[in-house]
Amino acid sequence: MKILITGGAGYIGSHTIIEILENTNWEVISIDNYSSSSEKTYQRIEKITGKKVTYYNIDLTDLSLTEKVFAENTDIAGIIHFAAFKSVPESVENPLMYYHNNLNSLINILKCQAKYNIPNLIFSSSCSVYGNLTELPVTETTPLNKPESPYAYTKQIGEKMVDDFIKTNANLKAISLRYFNPVGAHKSGLNGEVPIARPNNLVPYITQTAIGKLEQLTVFGGDYATNDGTCIRDYVHVCDIASAHVKALQKLVDDKNFEQHSIINLGTGVGVSVLEAIKAFEKVSNQKLNYKIGPRRAGDVEAIYANNTKAKELINWTPKFNIDEMMLSAWLWEQNLNKM
Ligand code: UFG
Repeated sequence: MKILITGGAGYIGSHTIIEILENTNWEVISIDNYSSSSEKTYQRIEKITGKKVTYYNIDLTDLSLTEKVFAENTDIAGIIHFAAFKSVPESVENPLMYYHNNLNSLINILKCQAKYNIPNLIFSSSCSVYGNLTELPVTETTPLNKPESPYAYTKQIGEKMVDDFIKTNANLKAISLRYFNPVGAHKSGLNGEVPIARPNNLVPYITQTAIGKLEQLTVFGGDYATNDGTCIRDYVHVCDIASAHVKALQKLVDDKNFEQHSIINLGTGVGVSVLEAIKAFEKVSNQKLNYKIGPRRAGDVEAIYANNTKAKELINWTPKFNIDEMMLSAWLWEQNLNKM
């Protein structure tokens, strides 16, 4: 079957394409506008899998251009919609850019899904939809709090848009996957995250500090009410996230009685503090990291990790990789990226 991946040149999109090409006989077409990725990703995918992906350089906020892809490919069986802006601080600085891009692209994808009668959709959501929490681990039925950033709000609205839209057409189905903190890289060391500018996220910041691109890591806050005073997150290997997409889409295809729109957490269920993440990195890379404890970062939640029972029950997904394996793969990728 033919699958359309939007944002296929991006971090999670590219790992999902690799997962599909390595483990299924699905054909993949990809749309990306390289706003935070590059066309070179497809060469890396081909090197790893030995397979070619058909790809289009298209801005999904342009409906007529988006529609052309669907008109050319009338046999698409499912869409995995990754394409979106994803930086929390950037969304706070430039909210309209986030509302425009993330919402209009989703609207256009949904319009095309309806017009071309494409039965299945997987939507990339985020645990940021939960906002600040009082009870952990978080389950899918936990009521959503106020979003802490425009980025998080685009994901709350996105899920709601998918929900309202899917219910208007009994032939369509969707799953929204709420990612916790995807990190790590493909085991080959040939594909991983390529931060375009200075990274915001912890793991690329760690690996870039270790390789010498950045001088020092600042741990944002050492006075939280956690075991060691630093924030707790649920880091999940990007290849585990990728395999969940394959399982979710396969489920929609196979199970005609599956709920029309399900929402599923993708996390390991294990909370890891910033200092524990640094220690894991130091262990697997066999080197000391240059870091200091600094002030808290605005907008950070103290602790969040998933209850992932629903993913196990509904799509038979169990994450395979632990924090050491995540860090080792990220480190291997950083070293290879440095040579490219
Ligand atoms: N951190 C540091 N120093 C850094 C970078 C991060 O101490 O230089 C800390 C943060 O304060 C936080 C943890 O590392 O405690 C993780 O931070 P990230 O920026 O890697 O990830 P976030 O949890 O803030 O955000 C991520 C994604 C968002 C997504 C969110 C969901 O970047 O896209 O998870 O909670 F919405």
